[in-house]
Amino acid sequence: MDPEIVRWLARPEARALLADLPSYDEATALTTAARLRAEGLDPTRAAALLTQLRLRARARTKFGEFADGMLFTADGLEQASRLEVAAGHAGRFAAASLATVHGLGCGIGADAMAMSALGVTVAAVDADPTTAAIADANLRAWPDSRARAGRAEDVELPTDPLRARAGAWLDPARRTPGVADARGRTRRIFRLEEISPSWDSVLDVARRVPATGVKLSPSLPHDIPPLGTEAQWTSYDGEVLECAVWWGPLVRHEGRTARVLRHDRSPVEVDQSMADADPPAAPSLGAMGPWLYEADRAVTRAGLTGAVTAATSGEELEPGLGYVTAGTATDVPFARRYAVRDVLPFSTKVLRPYLRERGITGLTIKKRGIRIDDERLRRDLRIGRGAGDGASTTVLLTRVAGEQCVLVIDPA
Ligand SMILES: C[S@@+](CC[C@H](N)C(=O)[O-])C[C@H]1O[C@@H](n2cnc3c(N)ncnc32)[C@H](O)[C@@H]1O
Repeated sequence: MDPEIVRWLARPEARALLADLPSYDEATALTTAARLRAEGLDPTRAAALLTQLRLRARARTKFGEFADGMLFTADGLEQASRLEVAAGHAGRFAAASLATVHGLGCGIGADAMAMSALGVTVAAVDADPTTAAIADANLRAWPDSRARAGRAEDVELPTDPLRARAGAWLDPARRTPGVADARGRTRRIFRLEEISPSWDSVLDVARRVPATGVKLSPSLPHDIPPLGTEAQWTSYDGEVLECAVWWGPLVRHEGRTARVLRHDRSPVEVDQSMADADPPAAPSLGAMGPWLYEADRAVTRAGLTGAVTAATSGEELEPGLGYVTAGTATDVPFARRYAVRDVLPFSTKVLRPYLRERGITGLTIKKRGIRIDDERLRRDLRIGRGAGDGASTTVLLTRVAGEQCVLVIDPA
């Protein structure tokens, strides 16, 4: 797709055509394209409409009903911040009363749209002209916010950003073009040296514009965020999506924090003041309590499992694994609770008869801190995923006080 086609897709007649098409269906897509061509539409435009229809359907998981008014590229959709996450980014800029944010590598403009919706004007660039044209089309509801083709490194930032109430937002590209995995998705880059714009460029922007934020990989090492910043790991429905680093007036809690988002709950934030600085560890396997807490992965990535020990008066099974044992049942909005049914040694010779005697024929395997091939374990245990005629249960393969073990658990 080229910027010219994007400009056509953004026009009212193309939007009307798109709105009139039936929902995307692989089986009828070719017929729909043929019908559009038969009605006199240029084949490139017909194909572009079908592509948008397909991407909109896919985009609904990220953007809900807003997807129906947006334009996409496949890559841009994959890299875009999901609606709830973009709203969190935008909230920081709005709360800092910024007038303008420079979006330096705006993609299809998901973050820029969220900022604009909260009253912050965005001046965005993207190095890819087609992507920039799409972002500009997606920003049409906010005429002051614009996106254009350009490199982040060439943007003239305000000389007095405080007076201009200007901020900067970067979401560097984290993928290697052309390298696709088995499912056709481009491979993610987790090396800070390989992001674009570069980490040095990000630091340079943050030196010049006090209100700067950047979205990075959730695997960001803890020693990278500069002193005085806030590094926030965010998860959505249990999957950690990013670590954003915030500078200056955008910092809410200096240090490491976690933001836990779930589709059915309000956001929950965890910071270091809520966490045991030195979380107590379970002294032995025998000291396991009746309740097990699994910290949300954003909390674990942020190194804040101490917030779970603090909230439950519990002890970590093993430092850094994100599991806490406790004697009482407490509702913790950033951890999942399980009842511990049994604690077994890590041995298929023990586990196989244990499952057989209880008529358990379906097993959910969770593991943390242990390397094991699930499929091979299932073969050794002669057990499937679904219960079939029997019962099913969940096991956690992990370490407690350095000892490998199997915890048989029930979600509370
Ligand atoms: C991860 S995407 C941004 C997604 C965006 N936050 C959103 O929610 O839609 C990163 C974008 O940065 C752009 N990019 C990479 N290097 C750039 C550079 N040096 N200057 C400007 N844009 C760049 C890529 O073309 C890509 O569209």
